[in-house]
Amino acid sequence: MFRRLITLTAGVSLALTALTACGGSDSGSGSGDTITLGFSQVGAESGWRTANTKSIQDSAKKAGIELKFSDAQQKQENQIAAIRSFIKQKVDVIGFSPVVVTGWDAVLKEAKAANIPVVLTDRAVDSDPSLYVTFLGSDFVEEGRKAGQWLVDRHKDGSDPVNIVQLEGTVGSAPAIDRKKGFEEAIGTNPNLKVIASQSGDFTRAKGKEVMQALLKAHKDIDVLFAHNDDMGLGAMQAIEEAGLKPGEDIEIVTIDAVKDGMQALADGKFNFIVECSPLLGDQLMDVAKKIDAGGSVDKRIVTVETVFDQAAAKEALPTRQY
Ligand code: AHR
Repeated sequence: MFRRLITLTAGVSLALTALTACGGSDSGSGSGDTITLGFSQVGAESGWRTANTKSIQDSAKKAGIELKFSDAQQKQENQIAAIRSFIKQKVDVIGFSPVVVTGWDAVLKEAKAANIPVVLTDRAVDSDPSLYVTFLGSDFVEEGRKAGQWLVDRHKDGSDPVNIVQLEGTVGSAPAIDRKKGFEEAIGTNPNLKVIASQSGDFTRAKGKEVMQALLKAHKDIDVLFAHNDDMGLGAMQAIEEAGLKPGEDIEIVTIDAVKDGMQALADGKFNFIVECSPLLGDQLMDVAKKIDAGGSVDKRIVTVETVFDQAAAKEALPTRQY
């Protein structure tokens, strides 16, 4: 396989070394024309993540790409070790979903020095953009805005204060930072909407329940829960029910993701609104890997197209929901 000069449409050039003509490459796996993709996944913290992993694995198979998959169990050090191992194995492309935003410079520089292109999927990093080829995933700020805007519209005629508790995602992760930012920006337009408490539930159902139990004890006047994902919302929903309250009525619940369990809660009237965050990134990731490997150009930022669901829309969408 001959190697190539990739010119990115965003103006970033990535020079990959010219290699041997018989299928070997100094950054490739040496397995002929089969592309090898090393992928470091965050973990298995949520229904979203499980669907994302399945999407990547299924799409790799379909695309004939050899996938080396590593689950970091929500630990950055595991992701760094996995990326270093992919570099050692001379994979053709490295993909990863960074658990947190900071701390990637050194390992990304190592990948660049080894001429291995890196694709960020799902989550962003704060490193110099020249260290990766593209970032493929949702606009998390916009997701937070959509959640906040729904509350602004719903409570536009009221004059009473609306007390909101927020369950944030993993501390330092792009979706937690950005969704909080977008949400607080949107609700800032209505002075009645007030975040009275905001804590991390680490994107898991168990932590969402635990944190909500504590919040219910500390605050008797919660009107709304905004959870950064369905899983934390579902855990909190259990806590609300166990406290003798009706989720969706006594406390409105707004979440992000739209995985099947969340959509079921919405259709059942226990959630009030969900902003979609699509985990089905596999096909796009494989397309990008193929383009890069062939020396083609890709956009520096590829934003996932997403929608929102109220209770009626959830009922309609549920029967054909893929994840
Ligand atoms: O990065 C995407 C987020 O991570 C999803 O919204 C959440 O469910 C997951 O854990």
